[in-house]
Amino acid sequence: MSVFEETSLDAFRACYPDRPASLRHRLSGHKLFAMERLVALAAALPRDSVEYNAGDLPIGQDPAKTPMNGLSPEETVRRIAENNSWIVLKNVERDVDYAALMNDCLDAIEPVARAATGSMHKREGFIFVSSPGSVTPFHMDPEHNILMQIAGTKTIHIFPAHADEIAGDAQHEAFHCAGGHRNLPYREEFARLGEAAALAPGDAIYAPVKAPHWVKAGPDVAVSFSVTWRSEASDAEAHLRRANGWLRARGVTPLRPGAAPFRDRAAVLAARAAERLARF
Ligand SMILES: [Fe+2]
Repeated sequence: MSVFEETSLDAFRACYPDRPASLRHRLSGHKLFAMERLVALAAALPRDSVEYNAGDLPIGQDPAKTPMNGLSPEETVRRIAENNSWIVLKNVERDVDYAALMNDCLDAIEPVARAATGSMHKREGFIFVSSPGSVTPFHMDPEHNILMQIAGTKTIHIFPAHADEIAGDAQHEAFHCAGGHRNLPYREEFARLGEAAALAPGDAIYAPVKAPHWVKAGPDVAVSFSVTWRSEASDAEAHLRRANGWLRARGVTPLRPGAAPFRDRAAVLAARAAERLARF
């Protein structure tokens, strides 16, 4: 049986790659999301694969001032109902069982994704465990992402990936060059640009590459499973943004992506070549 309900693939196909899509999945109640199994996973993962934070952050949290909660990853998960935190277990595909589950999810949508954006690669899985009411501040991510709600509820507020008033070209370039942080400043006037999706167990949402979002957990402990991937299209944009960032750092204002497609392709090839050389 497929992870996703049949109509979900149609919704995904209609929206991919640039618009959010609502999907339905069948993973709620899966044994890999039992709390004791998640505690064991948190303990087994390398420390740099576990990110944890206080949960009572403002939407527009300054990344330089993000507080930590002082607990170990396994303590944070075990006591998540009362410790007002959120934790993300990164690259859960290091565990063979979670890798199989991630691949079940991504295999189901891979033909649709490949047809639109080229090869699917850099598959990664993340599990979020959140205290009641905890907030994940406003940010953007570099991957195509399907966020599946497993337990509890969440509301995700999601915004267009290329709204200049939220993130201009220079911010996109900084994001792809060393030093750019995923968190973004938030202003109340952004609210009209976004949409809110309420997620209960069985619900999922496709979040486009770099579509800014912030998330608030509902009144119970929330568990979500995120499966992500990169594509030829997302790689090309990342290379172009890095090339443009390189120009901007040298006092040249680059043309906007899409304004000169031939120049964009040349910049992508140059950035790829430069990165290959840098690896020697
Ligand atoms: Fe995110």
